[in-house]
Amino acid sequence: MSALRIERTGPDSAGRMSDVHAVCFQPFWSAGEIAAMMQMPTTLGLLARKGDAVVGMALCRIAADEAELLTIGVVPEQRGQGVGEQILARGETEAASRGAGRMFLEVSTLNAAGKSLYLKSGYAQIGCRRGYYGDGSDALVLEKTLFGDGQGSGSKLITPLSE
Ligand SMILES: CC(C)(COP(=O)(O)OP(=O)(O)OC[C@H]1O[C@@H](n2cnc3c(N)ncnc32)[C@H](O)[C@@H]1OP(=O)(O)O)[C@@H](O)C(=O)NCCC(=O)NCCS
Repeated sequence: MSALRIERTGPDSAGRMSDVHAVCFQPFWSAGEIAAMMQMPTTLGLLARKGDAVVGMALCRIAADEAELLTIGVVPEQRGQGVGEQILARGETEAASRGAGRMFLEVSTLNAAGKSLYLKSGYAQIGCRRGYYGDGSDALVLEKTLFGDGQGSGSKLITPLSE
Protein backbone atom coordinates (compact mmCIF):
# COMPACT_ATOMS: atom_id res chain seq x y z
CA MET A 1 0.00 0.00 0.00
CA SER A 2 1.02 3.65 -0.46
CA ALA A 3 3.14 5.55 2.02
CA LEU A 4 1.45 7.20 4.99
CA ARG A 5 0.74 10.93 4.70
CA ILE A 6 -0.63 13.04 7.52
CA GLU A 7 -2.33 16.25 6.39
CA ARG A 8 -3.82 19.23 8.14
CA THR A 9 -7.41 19.51 7.05
CA GLY A 10 -10.46 21.76 7.35
CA PRO A 11 -14.26 21.55 7.64
CA ASP A 12 -14.55 20.19 4.08
CA SER A 13 -13.11 16.91 5.40
CA ALA A 14 -15.67 16.56 8.19
CA GLY A 15 -17.47 13.70 6.41
CA ARG A 16 -14.27 11.68 5.98
CA MET A 17 -13.27 12.43 9.58
CA SER A 18 -16.67 11.25 10.78
CA ASP A 19 -16.41 8.04 8.72
CA VAL A 20 -13.19 7.18 10.57
CA HIS A 21 -14.66 8.21 13.92
CA ALA A 22 -17.63 5.92 13.29
CA VAL A 23 -15.45 2.81 13.01
CA CYS A 24 -13.43 3.81 16.10
CA PHE A 25 -15.98 5.06 18.66
CA GLN A 26 -19.49 4.34 19.84
CA PRO A 27 -21.22 6.78 19.94
CA PHE A 28 -19.35 8.57 17.16
CA TRP A 29 -19.22 12.22 16.15
CA SER A 30 -21.31 13.14 13.10
CA ALA A 31 -19.95 15.14 10.16
CA GLY A 32 -21.99 18.10 11.37
CA GLU A 33 -20.52 17.94 14.87
CA ILE A 34 -16.99 17.66 13.49
CA ALA A 35 -17.56 20.47 10.98
CA ALA A 36 -18.77 22.73 13.80
CA MET A 37 -15.60 21.99 15.79
CA MET A 38 -13.43 22.58 12.76
CA GLN A 39 -14.99 25.99 12.11
CA MET A 40 -13.28 27.18 15.27
CA PRO A 41 -9.82 28.66 14.70
CA THR A 42 -8.51 26.84 17.76
CA THR A 43 -9.23 23.42 16.23
CA LEU A 44 -6.55 21.47 14.38
CA GLY A 45 -7.76 18.63 12.15
CA LEU A 46 -5.44 15.90 10.91
CA LEU A 47 -6.23 13.21 8.34
CA ALA A 48 -3.94 10.24 7.74
CA ARG A 49 -3.99 8.81 4.22
CA LYS A 50 -2.43 5.98 2.32
CA GLY A 51 -3.00 6.80 -1.33
CA ASP A 52 -6.68 7.69 -1.68
CA ALA A 53 -7.66 5.79 1.46
CA VAL A 54 -8.26 7.68 4.70
CA VAL A 55 -6.78 5.55 7.47
CA GLY A 56 -6.88 7.80 10.53
CA MET A 57 -7.83 11.14 11.99
CA ALA A 58 -7.33 13.40 14.97
CA LEU A 59 -8.72 16.65 16.31
CA CYS A 60 -6.84 18.91 18.71
CA ARG A 61 -7.77 22.16 20.37
CA ILE A 62 -4.89 24.63 20.67
CA ALA A 63 -5.37 27.75 22.74
CA ALA A 64 -2.62 29.99 24.08
CA ASP A 65 0.12 27.75 25.50
CA GLU A 66 -1.99 24.61 25.95
CA ALA A 67 -3.32 21.96 23.61
CA GLU A 68 -5.82 19.16 24.07
CA LEU A 69 -6.16 16.01 22.01
CA LEU A 70 -9.93 15.84 21.48
CA THR A 71 -9.95 12.55 19.59
CA ILE A 72 -7.71 10.21 17.62
CA GLY A 73 -8.63 7.11 15.66
CA VAL A 74 -7.18 4.67 13.16
CA VAL A 75 -9.38 2.40 11.04
CA PRO A 76 -9.25 -1.16 12.43
CA GLU A 77 -7.50 -2.75 9.43
CA GLN A 78 -4.61 -0.25 9.66
CA ARG A 79 -3.93 -0.50 13.39
CA GLY A 80 -0.67 -1.75 14.84
CA GLN A 81 1.47 -0.21 12.07
CA GLY A 82 2.50 3.06 13.71
CA VAL A 83 -0.26 5.22 12.19
CA GLY A 84 -1.66 6.37 15.55
CA GLU A 85 1.79 7.17 16.86
CA GLN A 86 2.57 9.28 13.79
CA ILE A 87 -0.75 11.17 13.91
CA LEU A 88 -0.19 11.95 17.58
CA ALA A 89 3.39 13.10 16.94
CA ARG A 90 2.19 15.37 14.12
CA GLY A 91 -0.47 16.87 16.42
CA GLU A 92 2.19 17.57 19.03
CA THR A 93 4.47 19.19 16.45
CA GLU A 94 1.65 21.37 15.12
CA ALA A 95 0.60 22.36 18.64
CA ALA A 96 4.15 23.23 19.64
CA SER A 97 4.62 25.28 16.46
CA ARG A 98 1.55 27.32 17.48
CA GLY A 99 3.05 27.97 20.90
CA ALA A 100 1.55 25.19 23.02
CA GLY A 101 3.92 23.95 25.69
CA ARG A 102 1.74 21.09 26.92
CA MET A 103 -0.68 18.58 25.45
CA PHE A 104 -3.53 17.18 27.56
CA LEU A 105 -5.83 14.26 26.82
CA GLU A 106 -8.22 11.83 28.46
CA VAL A 107 -8.28 8.07 28.03
CA SER A 108 -10.50 5.40 29.54
CA THR A 109 -8.88 3.07 32.04
CA LEU A 110 -10.33 0.27 29.86
CA ASN A 111 -8.61 1.44 26.66
CA ALA A 112 -5.45 -0.68 26.62
CA ALA A 113 -4.35 0.40 23.12
CA GLY A 114 -4.85 4.09 23.88
CA LYS A 115 -3.04 3.89 27.22
CA SER A 116 -0.10 2.07 25.63
CA LEU A 117 0.12 4.57 22.78
CA TYR A 118 0.22 7.51 25.22
CA LEU A 119 2.66 5.79 27.57
CA LYS A 120 5.00 5.08 24.66
CA SER A 121 4.63 8.70 23.50
CA GLY A 122 5.75 10.14 26.84
CA TYR A 123 2.49 11.08 28.57
CA ALA A 124 2.11 11.07 32.34
CA GLN A 125 -1.04 10.86 34.44
CA ILE A 126 -2.02 14.05 36.25
CA GLY A 127 -5.57 13.20 37.28
CA CYS A 128 -8.54 10.85 37.13
CA ARG A 129 -12.21 11.58 36.42
CA ARG A 130 -14.37 8.94 38.06
CA GLY A 131 -17.16 7.48 35.91
CA TYR A 132 -16.41 9.95 33.10
CA TYR A 133 -17.40 7.72 30.18
CA GLY A 134 -20.81 6.38 29.21
CA ASP A 135 -19.75 2.83 30.10
CA GLY A 136 -18.99 3.99 33.65
CA SER A 137 -15.22 3.77 33.23
CA ASP A 138 -12.87 6.34 34.68
CA ALA A 139 -10.91 8.78 32.52
CA LEU A 140 -7.19 9.15 33.13
CA VAL A 141 -6.10 12.73 32.52
CA LEU A 142 -2.69 12.73 30.88
CA GLU A 143 -0.20 15.44 30.07
CA LYS A 144 2.97 15.75 28.03
CA THR A 145 5.39 18.64 27.95
CA LEU A 146 5.97 19.56 24.32
CA PHE A 147 9.07 21.64 24.91
CA GLY A 148 12.21 20.51 26.70
CA ASP A 149 13.00 16.87 27.30
CA GLY A 150 9.66 15.55 26.00
CA GLN A 151 9.35 13.16 28.91
CA GLY A 152 6.14 14.59 30.39
CA SER A 153 5.89 16.90 33.36
CA GLY A 154 7.28 15.21 36.42
CA SER A 155 6.36 18.14 38.64
CA LYS A 156 2.63 17.48 38.34
CA LEU A 157 2.84 13.73 38.25
CA ILE A 158 0.34 12.06 40.56
CA THR A 159 0.65 8.48 39.34
CA PRO A 160 3.00 7.12 36.70
CA LEU A 161 0.97 5.73 33.79
CA SER A 162 1.39 2.00 33.86
CA GLU A 163 0.49 -0.57 31.23
C1 LIG B 1 -5.50 3.85 19.94
C2 LIG B 1 -5.26 3.81 18.43
C3 LIG B 1 -5.43 5.22 17.85
C4 LIG B 1 -3.80 3.33 18.19
O1 LIG B 1 -3.55 3.43 16.79
P1 LIG B 1 -2.51 2.45 16.07
O2 LIG B 1 -2.22 3.01 14.75
O3 LIG B 1 -2.99 1.05 16.12
O4 LIG B 1 -1.24 2.59 17.05
P2 LIG B 1 0.27 2.37 16.64
O5 LIG B 1 0.40 1.25 15.66
O6 LIG B 1 0.86 3.69 16.25
O7 LIG B 1 0.90 1.88 18.01
C5 LIG B 1 1.74 2.73 18.77
C6 LIG B 1 1.88 2.10 20.14
O8 LIG B 1 0.63 2.07 20.79
C7 LIG B 1 0.52 0.87 21.55
N1 LIG B 1 -0.57 0.05 21.03
C8 LIG B 1 -1.24 0.24 19.89
N2 LIG B 1 -2.22 -0.69 19.76
C9 LIG B 1 -2.15 -1.48 20.85
C10 LIG B 1 -2.90 -2.60 21.31
N3 LIG B 1 -3.93 -3.10 20.60
N4 LIG B 1 -2.57 -3.15 22.49
C11 LIG B 1 -1.54 -2.66 23.22
N5 LIG B 1 -0.79 -1.58 22.84
C12 LIG B 1 -1.10 -1.01 21.66
C13 LIG B 1 1.86 0.18 21.45
O9 LIG B 1 2.70 0.67 22.48
C14 LIG B 1 2.35 0.67 20.12
O10 LIG B 1 3.73 0.65 19.99
P3 LIG B 1 4.47 -0.70 19.47
O11 LIG B 1 3.80 -1.07 18.18
O12 LIG B 1 5.90 -0.29 19.30
O13 LIG B 1 4.26 -1.74 20.52
C15 LIG B 1 -6.20 2.79 17.74
O14 LIG B 1 -6.13 1.55 18.43
C16 LIG B 1 -7.64 3.23 17.68
O15 LIG B 1 -8.04 3.96 16.77
N6 LIG B 1 -8.46 2.80 18.66
C17 LIG B 1 -9.89 3.17 18.70
C18 LIG B 1 -10.06 4.63 19.04
C19 LIG B 1 -9.38 4.98 20.35
O16 LIG B 1 -9.47 4.27 21.34
N7 LIG B 1 -8.70 6.13 20.35
C20 LIG B 1 -8.01 6.65 21.54
C21 LIG B 1 -9.00 7.29 22.44
S1 LIG B 1 -8.23 7.99 23.88
